Amino acid sequence: MRIVTTLPALAQALQPYRHPAVVPTMGNLHEGHLDLVRIAKPLGDVQVATIFVNRLQFGPSEDFDTYPRTFAADCAQLEAAGCDLLFAPTEATLYPQPQGFKVAPPPELADVLEGQFRPGFFSGVCTVVLKLLACTQARTAVFGKKDYQQLMVIRHMVDQFNLPVRIIGADTRRAADGLAMSSRNGYLSATERAQAPQLHAALQTLAQAVRAGQTNFEALQNDAMAQLRTQGWQPDYVALRRQADLGPAQPGHALLALAAARLGSTRLIDNLEI
Ligand code: PAF
Repeated sequence: MRIVTTLPALAQALQPYRHPAVVPTMGNLHEGHLDLVRIAKPLGDVQVATIFVNRLQFGPSEDFDTYPRTFAADCAQLEAAGCDLLFAPTEATLYPQPQGFKVAPPPELADVLEGQFRPGFFSGVCTVVLKLLACTQARTAVFGKKDYQQLMVIRHMVDQFNLPVRIIGADTRRAADGLAMSSRNGYLSATERAQAPQLHAALQTLAQAVRAGQTNFEALQNDAMAQLRTQGWQPDYVALRRQADLGPAQPGHALLALAAARLGSTRLIDNLEI
């Protein structure tokens, strides 16, 4: 695997290729990220991963400074997964001046759910993803469905800006006990880690009730929030939405159950397609 950190070196490394298949990440990689690399590998003529912890998508009280940076281990894992080229820019490379131009995703997509609790998050994500897709000359890009809303916002951005990139969503990789893999799982204490699958379990209970025909979605959401609170979580939201556009859930549509909740000081998110 070749590693490049500058834009000229990236352009030079990409020169022989016509169809880069790109996996953008913030590093601290786990099996979920490596799945994305393995999915991307046959979809292009070169598989490119990026590692960049993007300041723009962190709120002032969020974990930008403490976000785990594990570059050497990440490189070894990417290499073993078959990645061909890693672009790992510094902040000075990707943001040589303060980023004045920013993508402003539409409020109905980006100010709800995660966006309600993390103002500016999706603008930061879209801005860096737009830049990374441009720099890597991506023709395919793979993102995890664990960040379902992020995947949807990126799909809409790519569509509305007519970017020549095919966006692929990859299923969430889970630990044997159901916990969705996430870099932030590393913040959990041993006791919290043992408790963490409760988030997935709450979504499963909700999904089972919907599959069984229950249609009082508000009551189901409230029950799931109450269950999590009883178990010691501080939920931001548990929500049933339409899969297609994250609009209000309606019977007869393909639905998605999403949740975000804090366990101690760690905020986890998860979702289930119903
Ligand atoms: O999902 C992530 O790791 C990040 O939000 C992304 C897409 C790499 C943008 O920084």
